[in-house]
Amino acid sequence: MTRLEKIDEGKAKALYTTGNPDQLIQYFKDEATAFDGKKKGIIKEKGILNNKISSRIFRHLEGRGVKTHFIDMPSDREMLVKKLRIIPIEVVVRNIAAGSLSKRMGVDEGTALKETIIELYYKSDPLGDPMINEYHIRAFGLAEMGELRQMETSALKVDRILSEFFVERGIILVDFKLEFGIHRGEVLLGDEVTPNGCRLWDRETREKLDKDRFRRDLGKVEEAYQEVLRKVME
Ligand code: TMP
Ligand code: ASP
Repeated sequence: MTRLEKIDEGKAKALYTTGNPDQLIQYFKDEATAFDGKKKGIIKEKGILNNKISSRIFRHLEGRGVKTHFIDMPSDREMLVKKLRIIPIEVVVRNIAAGSLSKRMGVDEGTALKETIIELYYKSDPLGDPMINEYHIRAFGLAEMGELRQMETSALKVDRILSEFFVERGIILVDFKLEFGIHRGEVLLGDEVTPNGCRLWDRETREKLDKDRFRRDLGKVEEAYQEVLRKVME
């Protein structure tokens, strides 16, 4: 399946049509941004690492009954996916306090939570992805309530499956962000599942193995992504 016309380009990926109107190619780039594009850089081979990591994870999730847009990984930087109508809501799942939750609640990173938290954000770079709730989703017609329930159920299932998957590989899944879309009337997990949109900490040392290394200038960014790839392929 070859890439034909570029129809969309985001910060980390570009989307191309294919010969099949139902299928697209997600092309993974090396450009890295943080803080809604305010910080820019290149993470060497990031596109390849993230495509491989995400393909492995989507295969694992599909094998356990999570419906995703993933079809195949035809090359190092390309993922063949089902065409989605993206729902403009980012679903964040948190198992341990970190990042913006630590700031908002005034607790140290690493603070345990009594239960898993789901947060919803409106997907809009110019607005800085503001946090929203179910009322905003209804009032602005961002998604049907049935779709939202399916997104939440799927996000919690992904959390259970991936927490186990990572912990078996010596990694704690601290939090992560998911995006969903509609394909032939079905809600599917879309986008990518990579160290770009997950917080992954080494279980023993608590060392960060994710994009926080880039966001916070901690160094060894490529090495961390490579380590995650090595571990997810185990
Ligand atoms: P946060 O603590 O900065 O709100 O991030 C929570 C999780 O969501 C973290 O794993 C990183 C991910 N994330 C994204 O993938 N994109 C974003 O724009 C933001 C803000 C967070
Ligand atoms: N959403 C991503 C992050 O915060 C990229 C960006 O905001 O530019 O890491």
